[in-house]
Amino acid sequence: MTSHSTQSLFKPLPGVDAPVDIWFNDQPLSVPGGRSVAAALLAAGVSRFRTTPVSGSARAPYCMMGACFECLVEIDGIPSRQSCMVQVQPGMRIHTQEGARDLPPMSAEVPENVHGR
Ligand code: FES
Repeated sequence: MTSHSTQSLFKPLPGVDAPVDIWFNDQPLSVPGGRSVAAALLAAGVSRFRTTPVSGSARAPYCMMGACFECLVEIDGIPSRQSCMVQVQPGMRIHTQEGARDLPPMSAEVPENVHGR
């Protein structure tokens, strides 16, 4: 079996916004603010965002523009969120997404920052 690295090639720009305190997999984590969840987690050294439903291999953000779905995580209890499309906010509770997840029910209230709204 071949092992594939999920090491990010993205590097933070100098002069980033103030740090934001979040929870990642139930552990406190300080990340740079003023950017997407994906960019913030990558900048903090996170390289494993989800695993695939079939093989269980690790995945990390790839396109950073909402096209590839490699960045799916659970944010504040809602699974299958594209972390590259959601701005990081203080106190967010983010979990890696292990395998397939159900989408939230259609009647569930959609948070304000879903789909860039
Ligand atoms: S990194 Fe491709 S959809 Fe988020």
